[in-house]
Amino acid sequence: MSGTFRILPRAAIQRRRLVVGNWKMNPGTVDEAVALAAEVARIDARDVEVGIAPPAIALGRVAESVRGSALRVFAQDVHWEQKGAFTAQISASMLSGIAVGSIVGHSEVRRDQRDDDARVAAKATAALRAGLSVILCLGESLAQRTGGETDAVLERQVRDGIGRIPRDLLAAEHGARLAIAYEPIWAIGTGVAASGAQASEAIRKIRLELLRVGVDGTAATIMYGGSVTAASVREFARADGVDGALVGGSSLKEDELATIVAAVR
Ligand code: PGA
Repeated sequence: MSGTFRILPRAAIQRRRLVVGNWKMNPGTVDEAVALAAEVARIDARDVEVGIAPPAIALGRVAESVRGSALRVFAQDVHWEQKGAFTAQISASMLSGIAVGSIVGHSEVRRDQRDDDARVAAKATAALRAGLSVILCLGESLAQRTGGETDAVLERQVRDGIGRIPRDLLAAEHGARLAIAYEPIWAIGTGVAASGAQASEAIRKIRLELLRVGVDGTAATIMYGGSVTAASVREFARADGVDGALVGGSSLKEDELATIVAAVR
């Protein structure tokens, strides 16, 4: 199959462009989150979807404060069950009406909550079923890259993560709500971003694997994440197959994020 499949350039199929700031456990207070969101909401979002993922406790106030703007508000994680005895967790139905979607499978959540691919798939399924969008993160560790396992890891994460999401939720009318973020763990928060060529190669692999699990890999929006800055973004904005950026540290500065959005446009 890989012999005949050609990845079309972005311009040929009009994939949406997406820049999302993953604020992680920042900034310091909910008031600071509301103030930062107001600044980010002023970024020119022409031709690019711009989003932020504040901490759960700030979601309500942030979403309320930017209502009416183009800024899209995402959660950083979502539980796979609808409700029940799951202390500290938040369900997709609780996010509905506040956030437009959720990140799932971020490597820090995989690490801290021991999420495996099956659980990531369950979280994505719950979110899509509730009408939310999903940004599903995947990527290899440094040991996996240096051990030559990158392709195998991406293959497994697509097969066991995305491949387990029910087909009806990935069909064209719903599938547009699924975006993927290729985030090599060794590039996150390290200041050492992947090269554009490395990102393109991994994203090309992800598109091929999507095709193998019955998802239209050519149409899927795939972002790059990991030490994206105003300085490094040009490398990815030009890179083949990269449709946007998931931005951690640099998303906490409005002017830096504005430069990143402008480069992706
Ligand atoms: P970073 O984080 O931009 O600070 O490297 C990216 C992410 O974790 O999504």
